[in-house]
Amino acid sequence: MKQPGTLTAWVNDRFTPLGEARVHIEDRGFQFADGIYEVIACFGGTFIDLDEHLARLWRSCEAIALEPAVSREKLRDLIRETYRRNPFPDAMLYVQITRGVAPRSHHIPENIRPTLVITARQLSQVPEEKIRRGATAITLADIRWKRCDIKSIALLASVLGKQEADRMHADEAFWLDEDGHLLEGCSTNCFAVIDESLVTHPLDHRVLGGITRDLAIRLARRYGLPVHERPWRLDEQGLSELFMTSTTNAAMPVCRVDGHVIGNGRPGRISMQIRTLLLQHFDELRAGKRS
Ligand SMILES: Cc1ncc(COP(=O)(O)O)c(C=O)c1O
Repeated sequence: MKQPGTLTAWVNDRFTPLGEARVHIEDRGFQFADGIYEVIACFGGTFIDLDEHLARLWRSCEAIALEPAVSREKLRDLIRETYRRNPFPDAMLYVQITRGVAPRSHHIPENIRPTLVITARQLSQVPEEKIRRGATAITLADIRWKRCDIKSIALLASVLGKQEADRMHADEAFWLDEDGHLLEGCSTNCFAVIDESLVTHPLDHRVLGGITRDLAIRLARRYGLPVHERPWRLDEQGLSELFMTSTTNAAMPVCRVDGHVIGNGRPGRISMQIRTLLLQHFDELRAGKRS
């Protein structure tokens, strides 16, 4: 049983109380957003898809030619230890790797040592009432860069998108491309149910390959639901449901977009089925039935 206590962060080479954790002002993460990150869920000591998150972290590092200062095995141990040293039974583990500290210049110096930070936060359950009512979203023109497949710490566009969603009393902002295709949310992937099939934007430079997106697709196919990875628009004939996926929310039905009701305005049957399949999968992981 975990006890309440001080929050602890890993910074480079040691554990530190969160309140004392420091990174240098010339860290390139601070100066240039020159870094990448991961968010991993842990329920009661069971990590969800830790290997997949580590693989994506390594892909992000490779994409920006950043070599982490630790091996994948060492990082796995550090993530587990950070979980252990923090008081939350259900937690989100944040791993952030930046290029490191150097005098400010766009040019990357040789022999720079990457900065590694790991923190833990409480992972709160989504209130049942929220699931029953469904989420709301707005749409915005995509103003992000052209490598959204990299899990970059440069999140200003998403911060502004979420701020606009807040201003409109919505839960999420979905990015639209120039032809009106729905790409993904600020911190979620998005699925439509069109003629009883799941439809989601294909993996390319315009979307992050969400770990939950991938899991939802695998579980849906195993359950016999067709899944099409193709560009799609909100005004397509036969669109009856929407839901969004993320590590922190599993699958969340979306019932209104830009004030327009989706389907019958209530969380859809297939969206809720996907949510149930994801939660069952997490339970099975916890019970040790799956690795
Ligand atoms: C832009 C974006 N898309 C999708 C996701 C969902 O990814 P995952 O399921 O791996 O949490 C996130 C998560 O932070 C995100 O930031």
